[in-house]
Amino acid sequence: MTDPTSSLIAAMAIPALVIDADERVTASNQFADDLVSLPLTGRLFHNVLRQPSIIEAIETGLSTGEPQETRFFNTVARQKMTWTVTVNPVQAAGGQGVLVCFQDITASREAEQMRRDFVANVSHELRTPLTALLGFIETLSGAARDDAAARDRFLSIMGTEAGRMSRLVEDLLSLCRVEEDQRVRPTDTVELMGLIQSAADTLKTSRPYMSRNCDILGPESCEITGDADQLRQVMLNLIENALKYGYANSAVIVRVATTSHDRALGQAAVKIDVTDTGDGIEPHAIGRLTERFFRVDSHRSREMGGTGLGLAIVKHIVDRHRGKLRISSEKGVGSTFSVLLPLG
Ligand SMILES: Nc1ncnc2c1ncn2[C@@H]1O[C@H](COP(=O)(O)OP(=O)(O)OP(=O)(O)O)[C@@H](O)[C@H]1O
Ligand SMILES: [Mg+2]
Repeated sequence: MTDPTSSLIAAMAIPALVIDADERVTASNQFADDLVSLPLTGRLFHNVLRQPSIIEAIETGLSTGEPQETRFFNTVARQKMTWTVTVNPVQAAGGQGVLVCFQDITASREAEQMRRDFVANVSHELRTPLTALLGFIETLSGAARDDAAARDRFLSIMGTEAGRMSRLVEDLLSLCRVEEDQRVRPTDTVELMGLIQSAADTLKTSRPYMSRNCDILGPESCEITGDADQLRQVMLNLIENALKYGYANSAVIVRVATTSHDRALGQAAVKIDVTDTGDGIEPHAIGRLTERFFRVDSHRSREMGGTGLGLAIVKHIVDRHRGKLRISSEKGVGSTFSVLLPLG
């Protein structure tokens, strides 16, 4: 018959084991056995838990009777996992023993790392234009104070750099807003063809290199339920990318098609393909394009005023609409960014 300690340990929802004064495991549950891929009960603990920090924590716990805490690392199905290990004194067979519990903190550690990376990225992106601005302010207040030609040139560069900072802040705010209403289903009725045309017209007039042709092909009109502002932002970002990264004399094609049943969405859907003729994207980079601040060629993107947040925003918006974003690209030929959205 199982003793009360063993049945208590077996019922725990986290990896747990008891070690007695003779340093032997007297009870362990399946979660704990899975951690080391061995049945632990009956074994001397240092033969199975080999990481120095956990051995030290258990030895100290056994000798002093004081609670201990440490970390344990392992790899499960190629995923690196991090655990907080607590060692607490308990009455075990033959005297003072310890209860060892493992708490999975992998997700919170990853979230913390992502937050740190994000802050580091934002600071870096802001520091570059800010350093330039400070430098020009210093020059204009000193050496170039009375040089009219230099003043005009520096002011123009300062305008560009300030514009870059302002765009970054705008993009960050818009990413926050999209994340905020990620769980709320959009309810506007949106006519896609008009929305795409207006996004293309806006881009055409905004920057000189955007004045190239953007052909929009598809039905006369196409109504969906969505968030008009956000879908407009999707189209602006995708068409802008196609114009920016496509070849100078080539046209961008936006093709809209509906289907009564899309397999991926399992319902009627509309597919919007934005295609450019250009250098295309290396296959290994395609999976990373929607990461915040990821750029294939950061220098080129920055030069064109990019923040590297455009596709991250697109992905969030498409997810909110329960849609899918697909990217296909061929080196030296061009790329197609496809947005699939549920209809009706
Ligand atoms: N149509 C495309 N052809 C080739 N590369 C592309 C295309 N679209 C995006 N990319 C690559 O993906 C990267 C990320 O795109 P994303 O739109 O997120 O950022 P960005 O264009 O650099 O800046 P912005 O925040 O202003 O959009 C770009 O820097 C570029 O390297
Ligand atoms: Mg972009």
